[in-house]
Amino acid sequence: MSANIVIGTQWGDEGKGKIIDILASRAEVVVRSQGGNNAGHTVVSNGKTYKLHLIPSGILYPNTLCLIGAGVVLDPKDFIGELNSLHSKGISTDNLKIDPRAHVVMPWHITLDGLSEEFRGNMDIGTTKRGIGPTYMDKYERCGIRVYDLVNPKLLKEKALATGKLKNKIITEVYGGEAFDLDKVIEEYIEYGKVLAPYVDDVSVLTYDANKEGKTIMFEGAQATLLDIDFGTYPYVTSSHPLSAGVCVGTGVGPKMITNIIGVAKAYTTRVGKGPFPTELDDEIGNTIREKGGEFGTTTGRPRRTGWFDAVIVRHSVRVNGLDGLAINKLDTLSGLGNLKVCVGYKKSDGSVIKNFPPTLEGLEDCKPVYETLEGFNEDISSCKNFEELPVACQNYIRRLEELCECKVCMVGVGPDRTQIIER
Ligand code: GDP
Ligand code: IMO
Ligand code: MG
Repeated sequence: MSANIVIGTQWGDEGKGKIIDILASRAEVVVRSQGGNNAGHTVVSNGKTYKLHLIPSGILYPNTLCLIGAGVVLDPKDFIGELNSLHSKGISTDNLKIDPRAHVVMPWHITLDGLSEEFRGNMDIGTTKRGIGPTYMDKYERCGIRVYDLVNPKLLKEKALATGKLKNKIITEVYGGEAFDLDKVIEEYIEYGKVLAPYVDDVSVLTYDANKEGKTIMFEGAQATLLDIDFGTYPYVTSSHPLSAGVCVGTGVGPKMITNIIGVAKAYTTRVGKGPFPTELDDEIGNTIREKGGEFGTTTGRPRRTGWFDAVIVRHSVRVNGLDGLAINKLDTLSGLGNLKVCVGYKKSDGSVIKNFPPTLEGLEDCKPVYETLEGFNEDISSCKNFEELPVACQNYIRRLEELCECKVCMVGVGPDRTQIIER
């Protein structure tokens, strides 16, 4: 019996999907607790690539119960697209459940996401434009539509009319956009509700009972620590809590259930969207990492910004998440790059060097990364099966990351396939 959390320690896309898929082979339940289809989690198995956005990455195992918790925001149209895509590949979704409390992304949320980004001009956040922020805004304003409403036509009609009228006013009168035909929206969403109805169940109860029965549970984080609404690079963040603590709130279980917290990092750093990125490489090495690592967004296809491993941000993640271990993916991408740099601290304009990630953007602006140079490697490591098989320079790189981040590295990814993992 164990309840394990897997979360991102950087700015997302660390390979959480891959790690969850690997660990799900030993789990009976996989739970998503926050975020929405802004996430893009890739699983590669037997040469086939699956891109998941809302459905937990445990879905490839037919006997694994996959749960979408109350803290998730769910776009029913996209969700149904994902269901259909899995069905067409012969994957069953019979073991999938959605909490009735989860909030629904309505079409005006997506429109408002786009309009507010446009309005911000060059101060935009670079969101995925999936309506995530506006949906969480309504949730906290207490005017949101939940999955329970979606599957009850009378409630949906009532709530969608009330909130939809206000949204239309904002869209047309504030932004000069086009109003939604509310009757049409309601008609369309009633149909989505019919598809979703059989999947609705109380995820808090299901998770609690599974734990009581001694089953192994994996909580699948989406986004990442530096995108957390409070502990990330605000305002260049997402609108949820992708931290380990967010898992309990987003599922409806107590923190004492959690036995193990794994943070996933890349052996370097990437970011999509805008916002600070101290170790960003705007040069040939950055381009090489992007090309070799295939660093293009799973959800939006945008090229990811790339840079050296930043031990300051990962140490920040170790602290705010209480990590028990790190999984370092994409070590293979660093082969052939020459010497490798790792950021070990930030130097401020007064000459002092800090080790803790600054709480504000203003504080961060005053910081320049301090690098340590480590020996690189040229070998192809993609078929290495255990740590000792790795070139000595690779082993030293990982050991140094452990020291700097103050957390042991329990897994090392050497390729995208579920078999390309070294466990320690
Ligand atoms: P997630 O959002 O954290 O689940 O990560 P994404 O799926 O968005 O992005 C990670 C990308 O890296 C995907 O294309 C994965 O297939 C790939 N990947 C994961 N681990 C490794 C690894 O160890 N090596 C290589 N080369 N690719 C990896
Ligand atoms: P996974 O789970 C990387 C980023 C967006 C943008 C910011 C806010 O695949 O790691 P939002 O649409 O959430 O309002 O956008 O957050 N972002 C991600 N970046 N991986 C993700 O998810 C992300 N989800 C959101 O690019 O900068
Ligand atoms: Mg991703």
